[in-house]
Amino acid sequence: MADIRFPDGFLWGASTAAHQVEGNNVNSDWWQREHGHLPGAPVESPSGDAADSFHRYPEDMKLLADAGLNSYRFSVEWARIEPEEGFVSRAMLDHYRRMVDTAYELGLQPMVTLHHFTNPVWFAKAGGWLTDAAVDRFARYVEAVLPVLDGVDLVCTINEPNMVSVLADPAVGFPSIGLPPGVPHVTDRLIAAHKRAVDVVRGVGSRAGWSIATQAYQPEPGAEHVAAEYGWSREDVFLDAASGDDWVGVQAYTRTRIGPDGPLPIPENAERTLTGWEYYPPAIGDGIRNSWARNGLPVYVTENGIATADDKRRIDYTRGALEAVAATMADGVDVRGYLHWSALDNYEWGSYRPTFGLIGWDPATFERRPKPSLGWLGEVARRGAMPPAG
Ligand code: FCB
Repeated sequence: MADIRFPDGFLWGASTAAHQVEGNNVNSDWWQREHGHLPGAPVESPSGDAADSFHRYPEDMKLLADAGLNSYRFSVEWARIEPEEGFVSRAMLDHYRRMVDTAYELGLQPMVTLHHFTNPVWFAKAGGWLTDAAVDRFARYVEAVLPVLDGVDLVCTINEPNMVSVLADPAVGFPSIGLPPGVPHVTDRLIAAHKRAVDVVRGVGSRAGWSIATQAYQPEPGAEHVAAEYGWSREDVFLDAASGDDWVGVQAYTRTRIGPDGPLPIPENAERTLTGWEYYPPAIGDGIRNSWARNGLPVYVTENGIATADDKRRIDYTRGALEAVAATMADGVDVRGYLHWSALDNYEWGSYRPTFGLIGWDPATFERRPKPSLGWLGEVARRGAMPPAG
């Protein structure tokens, strides 16, 4: 079998989110939840120092660049930039600006996410996304971040607004299969906040989009309308709302099969990853195709990866995913980049056990331990081509 080739200029990178790698994000709602100061399900472990990437980002970015990648997606932390309503920290803006500059110095194109799940405590206490004031509060924050974005081409306004919406109502528990439905008034506010942010960041010349968690809803024969209805509040409304943006971020990890009564359990004999999700590398292809059909926008894969302790399996998964990406491109979909989740092992929202990283680290010293998968993906990036398995 021949190599699978990717176009020149394709973005090859890895992604992180501030709260998951920086450490000590003490003014965020997540930190307060982890320590029982804000409501929410108890967590297995708090985030603590995380990977201390707050201090070690130059080393982290250099590892990515040296491996052959040309892009790094990271988020700026609202809870650090505006730790009290109306106080904007110049020092934190400078910190994130240094991250952007460091990326450029290393030959990495930065993709900057403005909101990746965490909120400042004051915002959460004032009702979070459950109150109309959220939209103005977010827009003000985005204005404040502009000095960081000067010259940044790709800005992701909100990461996985669909997950923010499905998790917004604390009264609705998490079902054992599938996801709760999106909360309509939260969805509306997220869309409004996104549109405001798009206008603001376009004003400084950035290209704006948001990144959607796709679940590859696969109907059993005859359950097509069930799948369509199931997917609407959880995914499709957000893909439709991207229309008019400059690009869309598609993220995928696994699939959800849909029967006549809704989501089906993962088959007993299916391989599962450390998050308990079905091992299903082609999921990203389903997500890309769904996005393309709904909004026709250029796609960046902004997250895709696997929680595993077996790095060989990470390479297998990524190869399978890239085959699916290439197949969508062969069918004419405008895919412009692939950013793997994640650059580093990180805090997976309650636990450090699911390891998604291309780079591991020593929990006592933070010493970085690049995995073979980083070298593998970097080599694909350098060559712009992926060799067949074997
Ligand atoms: C996505 C999140 C990301 C990470 C991965 C595994 O839903 O955007 O922060 O937790 O899943």
